Amino acid sequence: MTYIPKENRYNTMKYNRCGKWGLKLPAVSLGLWHNFGDVDTIENGRKMLHRAFDLGITHFDLANNYGPPPGSAEENFGKMFKQDFSSHRDELIISSKAGYLMWPGPYGEWGSRKYLLASLDQSLKRMGLEYVDIFYSHRPDPDTPLEETMMALDRAVRSGKALYVGISNYPADMAKEASKILKELGTPCLIHQPKYSMFVRWVEDGLLDVLEEEGIGCIPFSPLAQGLLSDKYLNGIPENSRAAKSWGFLHESDVKSAIGKVQKLNEIAKQRGQSLAQMALAWILKDKRITSVLIGASSIKQIDDNVETLKNIMFSDEELRLIEEILK
Ligand SMILES: NC(=O)c1ccc[n+]([C@@H]2O[C@H](COP(=O)([O-])OP(=O)(O)OC[C@H]3O[C@@H](n4cnc5c(N)ncnc54)[C@H](OP(=O)(O)O)[C@@H]3O)[C@@H](O)[C@H]2O)c1
Repeated sequence: MTYIPKENRYNTMKYNRCGKWGLKLPAVSLGLWHNFGDVDTIENGRKMLHRAFDLGITHFDLANNYGPPPGSAEENFGKMFKQDFSSHRDELIISSKAGYLMWPGPYGEWGSRKYLLASLDQSLKRMGLEYVDIFYSHRPDPDTPLEETMMALDRAVRSGKALYVGISNYPADMAKEASKILKELGTPCLIHQPKYSMFVRWVEDGLLDVLEEEGIGCIPFSPLAQGLLSDKYLNGIPENSRAAKSWGFLHESDVKSAIGKVQKLNEIAKQRGQSLAQMALAWILKDKRITSVLIGASSIKQIDDNVETLKNIMFSDEELRLIEEILK
């Protein structure tokens, strides 16, 4: 089957600037952490990429370790890219990251220049790309000077292997310092990728302020708390759901401890005429400092549902108050 992207793909998606920079990202971006590894069905992944692009999702987010096994999401993406998207390279923002364990020995994880630049080369090879649009330091390294990690990001851009750089999981003070170093190096920080959802709110205690001051974009990951913030678990744990799988980081106990709040939030979503997933994404997008929400999906139906969010990202004060009451 030859994939021909829909001509009207740019008609409805909203695009937001990354902080003060020129690059715009779709308000909803798609991550390939789950559902694109060798344990998954490649044809389903392919269909999801098609649907996403047809809906104006121009940003696909990867990392060296996505799979399982680690690296397989990049490899599978590379095959799909070659087959369906190679003539659309200039319409796509493809990101990758390095920070977590990829190979044995002292150079296979964290934030040294040795690891980051070797990992970027490996990612490009797996994906069959000449460059990534955004290359991230995936997590701060407590044992490597920040200068070294930032110099490696700067080098990635200067060598033509990345167009922009980002940081992920950096706390507010380190993000500020990283931004200062990157500015001095002449490769300013484009974007920060933190975990943020109704259930995980650490970014509100300083990080979002730093990003605004520095003119850096923000693309929250796991905005649905890996699917907890949806109607998926209202009647138990469905087969094939992330919580039912033997790999990954969402467990039955997480569902059990969240379900009470999820049920109450679902009632508010219904009153708004939205699915709970849509309300959870809208709740993040209501803040002007957010560039894009970085979702995961296991079906095209979920991608459709999530993009529909953009029809209503406004909240009344009363709705916000009720949500806060449930979340506290
Ligand atoms: N920088 C980092 O350290 C880091 C860490 C984690 C993730 N990320 C990035 O963020 C991306 C998203 O993370 P995530 O997958 O955890 O995000 P998420 O959007 O919170 O969770 C995605 C999961 O939620 C469920 N879902 C999505 N839409 C739904 C809908 N409309 N209705 C019902 N269920 C729905 C699906 O679960 P089922 O599979 O059960 O159907 C889907 O796989 C990743 O792919 C990756 O690119 C980055």
